[in-house]
Amino acid sequence: MRFLILAAFLISSTLAIKVPATSYFTYHHGGSIPSQNAAIGPQFSQPVNYYGSFLDSSLKVPTQMCPPTPPPCTKSRYRSLDGSCNNLYNPSWGVANSRYGRLLTPRYGDGVSSPTASVTGHELPNARLISLTVFGESDVPDRGLTIANMQWGQIVTHDMSLTAGGTQSRKHTTRCCTDDGKLIQSGLHSTCFPIIVPKNDPAHSQTGTECMNFVRTLTDRDNFCPDKTQKSYAEQLSVVTAYMDLSHVYGNSEEQNRPIRSFVSGRLLVDNKQGFEYPPQHPNASTTCDLQTPQETCYLGGDMRINQNPGLTIMQIILLREHNRIADNLQALNQHWDDETIFQEARRINIAQFQHVNYYEWLPIMLGHENMLKNELIYQTSHGDYVNDYNPNIDPSVLNSHATAAFRYFHTQIEGQLDFVAEERTISNTIRLSDWFNRPVVVESGDNFDFLSRGMTTQPQETTDINNDVEVKHFLFRRGRPFGLDLKAFDIQRNRDHGLASYNDFREFCGVGRAHGWQDFIDFISPANVDKLKALYESHEDVELTVGGALERHVDGALAGPTFLCILTEQFYRTRVADRFFYERGDSNTAFTSEQLNEIRKTSMARLFCDNGNNIQQMQPAAFRRVSPNNQITSCSNIPYVDLSLWRDHSVPAFKSDYTIYNAPLLVKN
Ligand code: HEM
Repeated sequence: MRFLILAAFLISSTLAIKVPATSYFTYHHGGSIPSQNAAIGPQFSQPVNYYGSFLDSSLKVPTQMCPPTPPPCTKSRYRSLDGSCNNLYNPSWGVANSRYGRLLTPRYGDGVSSPTASVTGHELPNARLISLTVFGESDVPDRGLTIANMQWGQIVTHDMSLTAGGTQSRKHTTRCCTDDGKLIQSGLHSTCFPIIVPKNDPAHSQTGTECMNFVRTLTDRDNFCPDKTQKSYAEQLSVVTAYMDLSHVYGNSEEQNRPIRSFVSGRLLVDNKQGFEYPPQHPNASTTCDLQTPQETCYLGGDMRINQNPGLTIMQIILLREHNRIADNLQALNQHWDDETIFQEARRINIAQFQHVNYYEWLPIMLGHENMLKNELIYQTSHGDYVNDYNPNIDPSVLNSHATAAFRYFHTQIEGQLDFVAEERTISNTIRLSDWFNRPVVVESGDNFDFLSRGMTTQPQETTDINNDVEVKHFLFRRGRPFGLDLKAFDIQRNRDHGLASYNDFREFCGVGRAHGWQDFIDFISPANVDKLKALYESHEDVELTVGGALERHVDGALAGPTFLCILTEQFYRTRVADRFFYERGDSNTAFTSEQLNEIRKTSMARLFCDNGNNIQQMQPAAFRRVSPNNQITSCSNIPYVDLSLWRDHSVPAFKSDYTIYNAPLLVKN
């Protein structure tokens, strides 16, 4: 609330500093539900090749990293896999393999692409040193939220962005450090930006590790793409669609989607093990997972990070099983539908449910319910009301400041010890996260899937604060070695790699107020933490967004301070209004019926666990929140469910089976 008042009176100063974000101003006013018939922008009737205008066929494109040229956009009931043609005016907006968005001009060291330097021209303080001296590692369990809350955040992240050229889990093929942690002295690859370990490092000095392998993100300069929007400075690329479209479940292209589809009854491909469905085995398991035996499981999914940690893998499997559960129901209801129709309809429902859980159950915890209402990220609707807030002028690209700084703040919520919890909620075992990075075998042996799922919904996440769990601060991806990488140091180094504008720049942008000296930071950062920053940085202008934003006192009702909250709110506003297929819309070409929308709104995280566990019988209704007198464990049969019978297609007699994807079924109201 404090932030909203603050933001409201700062609209004028925001205008004064030439805010580039078109949607930013909507951030400051609430409003009623846009009318069902409100059309924003012109209507499309004829297919147009929107790409043609800026394609130069004489240019040689050296790499597969450039966005594919989509065919002319046609009106389709379904999203494309790569995000193209979501925006019919700008069909390449939000596609896989395109640039992150920027709110502010970057601060590269050389103004073009080199990592950020101090305003004095010197190097910035060592990233691992900042991690060690400014950020803590205390274990502070959250009073109200479960690990599922943290884990879902990673799932939302993986749907929306993935830096190009990285792996975010398995060992990188580009080596900047030797395997025993020494800096490679000569012939260092141009993308190397290793993190040097301080001499007295509490962990790494024990093993003589001097260097953490860090590879820079690929940019539009590394991958010259044939469009004329290239700026005078580098823009990093993201290899997944920016839309909230379950691209990590379905893949980001036909090539990624084909190997994970069964092409039977609309289902995704699964391996059946002891009667339960798991993703198919990765064809190159040994290059993807950290296997201890060649037979070990390693999954193939829509996203290369599927195997990164057990909680993430479980969430991915839940969303995969949910697709197949919906597909089976649709097939039973509509025996005349072909594989493609069932696949697309199940995908559409799965995405809608996902968006609903994100906007109405999960994001309010993170961004604050009031904040979301006021800024039109959510609406108070009744029954099957549509919300027609699509705005084709808004670019859906994931903001660099969001993916590289603000959203990563929630790494603080990671819990490093995972409990196995029985149906009666007793703990039977606990595992170390760092023993199971890139080793998904743990989720499918015995009853582990359910025990870990119940663990996620029973065990508290770590409090959202300045602490990072030791499992990701000293042991990340350690692959059996005594120590590993430091996620916080990586986040700081990545901020420099991407040349994000400074914390102070973003304070000004967000209306928090530009600091003119160290003392001006104490409005939102404790004096003790300002002193720590002062001891490390040469100037208050040097403090990075990732660092300053993470030290801010939280806005009431939200889990972030005002600067991060501003960026997160802006991002999720864009993600919603820039998506022509957003599930609450009433557009006649893409909409659910009002009754179907009303059903989608019954989706919950608890229901997803109940429906897609191996044999989960009970759950608390609010699974992101800890069990409490107001949120008691109950039988799954008491948790509301989406009635899929509303998807029975009455438009053709049951014996006809001549449906095709583009001759989409007309779903009528009962
Ligand atoms: C056990 C849990 C998690 C692990 C092990 C993990 C690990 C990582 C790693 C290794 C990276 C890449 C670092 C780099 O090279 O720059 C990363 C990126 C990221 N993480 Fe996490 N993370 C976890 C949970 C989360 C959560 C809960 C959130 C947010 C709610 C989150 C948000 C992000 C974001 C936004 C990125 C950047 C994505 C991109 O654009 O490529 N992560 N994480």
